[in-house]
Amino acid sequence: MNAAYEAGASGPLKGVRVLDWTMWQFGPMSSAMMGDMGADVLKIEALDGDSGRGLARASTLRTGLPEGRNVYFETNNRNKRGLAVNLKTKEGQEIVHKLVKNADVFVQNFRKGVAERLNVGYETLSEINPMLIYGSASGYGPEGPDAHLPSFDGCGQARAGLMMSATPVGVKEPTRVTQGVSDQMGAIMLCQGVLAALVARHIQGIGQKVDASHLSANMWLQGLGISMTMMRGGAFEAYDRLNSRNPLANLYECKDERWIQLMHLQPDRQWEPLMTIMGLTHLLDDPRFSNMDTRMENGTALVAEMDKAMATKTYDEWDELFRTSGDFIYAKVQTINELQDDPQVIANEYITEFDHPSIGTVKMCNHPNHYSKTPAKIWREAPQLGQHTEEVLIDELGYTWDDISDLQNKNVIL
Ligand SMILES: CC(C)(COP(=O)(O)OP(=O)(O)OC[C@H]1O[C@@H](n2cnc3c(N)ncnc32)[C@H](O)[C@@H]1OP(=O)(O)O)[C@@H](O)C(=O)NCCC(=O)NCCS
Repeated sequence: MNAAYEAGASGPLKGVRVLDWTMWQFGPMSSAMMGDMGADVLKIEALDGDSGRGLARASTLRTGLPEGRNVYFETNNRNKRGLAVNLKTKEGQEIVHKLVKNADVFVQNFRKGVAERLNVGYETLSEINPMLIYGSASGYGPEGPDAHLPSFDGCGQARAGLMMSATPVGVKEPTRVTQGVSDQMGAIMLCQGVLAALVARHIQGIGQKVDASHLSANMWLQGLGISMTMMRGGAFEAYDRLNSRNPLANLYECKDERWIQLMHLQPDRQWEPLMTIMGLTHLLDDPRFSNMDTRMENGTALVAEMDKAMATKTYDEWDELFRTSGDFIYAKVQTINELQDDPQVIANEYITEFDHPSIGTVKMCNHPNHYSKTPAKIWREAPQLGQHTEEVLIDELGYTWDDISDLQNKNVIL
């Protein structure tokens, strides 16, 4: 373990060694999460680097940062060191095989067959280290007719049904959620799979391969709805605000054009207090709304009444009233940019500050879990291409400076 890691990293995975042969977001974010949790993550890149380094734009956001840094790459590769090694050479493969001997985890997200072609597939690496946990990401899973197909975020959202789930009633075009959410979900599932396999290794004494895919992860994101429809038949209907089945769990626009999400899933409990506070007591005796079933049948009429009432006060006025007058369940509809000023985000440090050596102090989305005794944190910026190649080869694998220049001449390392 290197001194900077020893001094900087903290978290429940401190001391776990991760080899991160990944690119873009799906694979890299899974190991960035492990890095947040304190693992010693070593990113392995081809000599021309992770393709994510060159991404010029993500949605409408430009990615350029000072000193040639890229905000997409920085986000997906924080808390890692970096090694550039040409796996199309025997010597390059040897370097990785040596690293595998002392690694706990290997993660990759290349197209099916690439790892095997480069001698870093599960069969090969588990022979070198039978206790290795090998995390592998794909678009559609390791088996089946489409196992070999390439995939990016939108493919996962499309095929797993997420786009149609996000599309409200009456809208013809499927809705795509921005910001690589399907990659992020894949990364979360790959990370949790690797963590479970680490526990199995600890308790059962076995290494194993863990697969996650865009399809599996984004199906699981909607796992409740998928299982309910399979078990019961029928389909989850698209969201229909104006014809809500439960107007007490619905979106409303306030006087200041700010939207509020009411979320009362036990509407009988909140019916009287909510109607009272909204100034709609005349509806309490209205037979159209006397119980949950009739309110569902007459949802359109009730939403219209509640729309009118909601439009009489600003969000802040409703917030004050709801907080001080009862037990109401609701949330403000916010934009991503508003999150950094949200007192709850600030109090829980869901956004954190990090002193980036090239950029200065930056704010980043923090690791989502708090660990009371082993706090996760961002302790280092993403590596420059090949930044730690010499350090790793000399300090950890016993190569000499002569070996280094020989490997450079042979185009094995940078
Ligand atoms: C992301 C994806 C679409 C990229 O496709 P691609 O750019 O065509 O890349 P591939 O995975 O097919 O292959 C990568 C190439 O880099 C090469 N490569 C990777 N690391 C290397 C290294 N260290 N040294 C030498 N070559 C390397 C591979 O050998 C391969 O080249 P080859 O086909 O000549 O053997 C595809 O990998 C994929 O679908 N992955 C699974 C799903 C996924 O994670 N998607 C990304 C979501 S963010």
